[in-house]
Amino acid sequence: MTKIIAISNEKGGTGKTTTAVNLAAVFHNFGNRVLLIDSDPQMNATSSLGCNGRNENNYADLLNDTKDARQCVLHTDYCDLIPASARLGVAEKILASQGNHYRLAEALNFLDEYDYVIVDCPPRMDELVRNAFVAATDIIIPMSTSAYSMDGLMQVYSTIRMVQKYENPGLRINGLLCEMFDDRTILAGEVKEILNDIAKKLNTQVYGTAIHRIIRVDAATHRHMPVVVFDPKCTVSKDYTDLAMEVAYHAHSVH
Ligand SMILES: Nc1ncnc2c1ncn2[C@@H]1O[C@H](COP(=O)(O)OP(=O)(O)OP(=O)(O)O)[C@@H](O)[C@H]1O
Ligand SMILES: [Mg+2]
Repeated sequence: MTKIIAISNEKGGTGKTTTAVNLAAVFHNFGNRVLLIDSDPQMNATSSLGCNGRNENNYADLLNDTKDARQCVLHTDYCDLIPASARLGVAEKILASQGNHYRLAEALNFLDEYDYVIVDCPPRMDELVRNAFVAATDIIIPMSTSAYSMDGLMQVYSTIRMVQKYENPGLRINGLLCEMFDDRTILAGEVKEILNDIAKKLNTQVYGTAIHRIIRVDAATHRHMPVVVFDPKCTVSKDYTDLAMEVAYHAHSVH
């Protein structure tokens, strides 16, 4: 069965896109069929894979129902991609005015050949995120270890609870991810403890793997490739490989 994983946090800049792109690339390297969906009008995932100029058919077309889902899929060296476009903002407003939470879930019925579908969400709780949560089996919440990153968590959680109640009872939080982790600082250790407490309350766990903060991540983004491909031996590439194994384990475990 396809695992559909939404990467979400209402807070901006917590490593959602970096995680989405690199998890997709690692799952692909493991031999899985992987589709990455860029559900953010900022188009960062699309750009991270060097597909900015290749988005003639994109996620906005899928949501507007002007193209079949399959027509929106691009094949890249790292995974398949449904790219974003600036028109996603308008598509979101239309869906919101219709109250249509099911558009992505319906479209994915026609793309059932994938082992993993990963959805990179924007940093707010809008109709794009609601569609992602309704379609998803799992959610990953990347948290940067600065104290301010806790702010967005409760809004994400209340949206998850609403979707579990009304649309998708099987939805679960796969895990909370410590992003941009610097284990030399005491603050980071404290934040990890706080995260563990929060995770218990949300009926989930903090991944054993934290993603370290290293400058190679930005270098890879500028080269428009996942860091796991750009520099497979660096710390963060090892982190993302370990993380992918944890995510797969939790996604396939029976609750
Ligand atoms: N492990 C890391 N080490 C160093 N820099 C990182 C790391 N992960 C992400 N970054 C950088 O931090 C910035 C924000 O990351 P990213 O775009 O993945 O966050 P985001 O949550 O998707 O942001 P937004 O909310 O705007 O969509 C980027 O410049 C990215 O290159
Ligand atoms: Mg992003």
